[in-house]
Amino acid sequence: MSTIQDLNQRFAVADKLVFSATESNMPVAQINTRLCRAAITLQGAQVFSWIPAGEQEVIWTSPQAKFAPGKSLRGGVPICWPWFGPHASRKEFPAHGFARTVNWFVKESRLLDDDRVAIVFGLEMNAALREMWPHDCTIEMHITLGKTLELELVTANNGQQSFELGEALHTYFTVGDIRQVQITGLENCVYLDKVDAFVRKQQSDAITIDQEVDRVYIDTESECVIHDAKLKRRIHINKSGSRSTVVWNPWQEKAQAMGDMGESGHISMVCVESANAADNVIHVASGQTHRMVVRYSVQKG
Ligand code: BG6
Repeated sequence: MSTIQDLNQRFAVADKLVFSATESNMPVAQINTRLCRAAITLQGAQVFSWIPAGEQEVIWTSPQAKFAPGKSLRGGVPICWPWFGPHASRKEFPAHGFARTVNWFVKESRLLDDDRVAIVFGLEMNAALREMWPHDCTIEMHITLGKTLELELVTANNGQQSFELGEALHTYFTVGDIRQVQITGLENCVYLDKVDAFVRKQQSDAITIDQEVDRVYIDTESECVIHDAKLKRRIHINKSGSRSTVVWNPWQEKAQAMGDMGESGHISMVCVESANAADNVIHVASGQTHRMVVRYSVQKG
């Protein structure tokens, strides 16, 4: 793994993108421009803060989040890849795949003409990872940070065989009070209700949350909007190459059992995840490249 000095020599952009280390010695990319402030751990290529100019924090990271090598970080934008949820046949493999708990490397960084910062991360498929995922493929995460946050997860199949891919950008959003939030964009969609034995149901109205919610909405590429009455803002989520949207809030009891959600963490977060899961896992043929692109923006009111 590169040292902080090495990362700064090769990829820092003046004082707008610099690399530093957490107390636990994990490298972090820090972005500070006139458009936004943000932070990304190289472990998991995981954005864990994004504050567009004039806004409050958009991404929720638990006050109890553990920045520890090999451990998943509670909050931010975990990358679930190459499967979502438990592995289909090997229960001992990590939930949501391994991409979120391994170190990624920086491939490229750039300051764009309009002052956005673009960073490309790659993941080295070493022998241990190949044991869990024996496919010849390349994965990249492209992150572009400004007044909007754009994330592109790119999977290329370089092998002779096709493979099935499950994935999600498991984004935790900051909300003022989840009990005063509505999520629109999934009306009329079918979802698998994970808190009711995966029964298929249909969403009728906007989503409101006052208990545990864990749903995989399928066959939807719609824009979702998080309407936050307390923070008086709307977070827009636009996507392509993603046919599922997961909505998750563990609510109080499960949050407490998890141990890293903080005192009343479930009140101040909601996950709206752009995904390809369940019915929508992706068949990536030999030589094909699959791209999932997600864009977040914030409006007042
Ligand atoms: C969601 C799943 O995407 O992630 C939930 O639908 C799961 O079932 C949640 O509990 C959190 O997963 P983890 O592995 O980060 O605790």
